[in-house]
Amino acid sequence: MKVIFPGSFDPVTRGHLNIIVRASALFDEVVVAVLVNQEKRQLFSTPEKIEMLNELLYDYHNVTVKEFSGLLVDFVQNEKANAVVRGIRTAADFDYERQLSLLNHSLYSGMEEIFLLTDAHYAHVSSSFAREVASFGGDVSGLVTENVARRLRAKFNKTS
Ligand code: PNS
Repeated sequence: MKVIFPGSFDPVTRGHLNIIVRASALFDEVVVAVLVNQEKRQLFSTPEKIEMLNELLYDYHNVTVKEFSGLLVDFVQNEKANAVVRGIRTAADFDYERQLSLLNHSLYSGMEEIFLLTDAHYAHVSSSFAREVASFGGDVSGLVTENVARRLRAKFNKTS
């Protein structure tokens, strides 16, 4: 079974990694799909996001990292994937994911979503928290891996 794990990954967190590693054990093939055409301003460029993901996922041979733009349902069909995987940390995530899922199904009824509960250890972890803590020079080691923490520090040192 081939699944897509889509997201903004600005930057990839320990929570994302937890879901990707578990998906890699469950499914034959996992495509981590980095969204590019966002209106939201991003801290990292798409090539930087992909590089960080590739550094982390080097040892997972059934995981590939790709970028996508446009609708997720179109990417899923182009990739001939069976389903989309999303991580759920909280009840708020569940409500959001449910709406996203209903919308995606209204666009393409052939798409399935598989929700994995993020390990409790990562329930508070998000890319936006990692960016915010790093912007104030705080310790992000619980939120992101060392390669990502280094790049976050470099971003804020450069712009400050
Ligand atoms: O990491 P995120 O920001 O929670 O990921 C959201 C993502 C990328 C899964 C979602 O925004 C998405 O699928 N965007 C692609 C455009 C699309 O298909 N829009 C319709 C559903 S929101």
